[in-house]
Amino acid sequence: MSEPKPQVTNESFTVVPSLNGVGAEISGVDLTQAMSDAVFSGIRAAFFEYGVIYFRGQTLTVEDQISFSQRFGELDKSSVLSQYLHPGHPEIFLVSNIVDKDGRHLGAYDAGRMWHFDLSYEAKPSMCSMLYALEIPHDDAGKALGDTQFASMSRAYASLPDAVKQRLEGRKAVNTLAKRFARKEDVNILSPEKSKLAEATHPAIRTHPANGRKCIFVNEAHTDRILDLAREESDALLATAWEACKNPAFRYRHSWRVGDAVMWDNCAVQHLATFDYKLPQRRLLHRTTVVGATPY
Ligand code: SIN
Repeated sequence: MSEPKPQVTNESFTVVPSLNGVGAEISGVDLTQAMSDAVFSGIRAAFFEYGVIYFRGQTLTVEDQISFSQRFGELDKSSVLSQYLHPGHPEIFLVSNIVDKDGRHLGAYDAGRMWHFDLSYEAKPSMCSMLYALEIPHDDAGKALGDTQFASMSRAYASLPDAVKQRLEGRKAVNTLAKRFARKEDVNILSPEKSKLAEATHPAIRTHPANGRKCIFVNEAHTDRILDLAREESDALLATAWEACKNPAFRYRHSWRVGDAVMWDNCAVQHLATFDYKLPQRRLLHRTTVVGATPY
């Protein structure tokens, strides 16, 4: 007989921040259970404090994941890669390297190759996203592969020399999906309605709407240029900003286990996937994406 699943009432939970304060584990919460407003508001506060929160050992149905994610706001139900939306549950986007018998990918197989914020090429970039792990690849020694890294953008901003902060303050940057899908083979997998690729102009430094922290808001995957600067000057300034964004001191690296639910703040952190696995090592995650507001 299998062991009964321990019931967690969600009345108390523990937040354990990582050593450098980017990312925190929340334990004592079962995301399938009802959650009071008081508990949710504690979780939300930890989320805004640490930029990334994760819950281990969850057993979520798609409905459970949708229902918890929705407490943070309205969920996105469309994608430039609409073929990877969950059939029947368009709030769920599949991230996976698995292929069916005809060789078709089940989900986005190369999402997150470069540091990015989700949907920064939209007028209203995503407020936050959640990935729930169903299958995680391992090496022969049992070590999990396909880690996801998160980098704090308020810490990256704070680390910039004053002269660089001044050059970026008040500037706007053009973010375009065309940069992410520059390769011809990538453009071919975009949905027809997105043949005109999304593009949006946002402040290069934005203010976090929940805690007022200043965050770098340019990213290597989508930001093409800073407006009103010569291309060379824009490229140099972006390179300086990206160097700060990639400082290992400001990162949390998530080593996945099946049953992990990881949620990140798309203003406070950028993220990057690791491609150190390949079939027959299988990776399958379900992503929900919460709609955000216009950055300022
Ligand atoms: C993403 O960029 O949303 C995917 C990250 C990952 O697969 O690790």
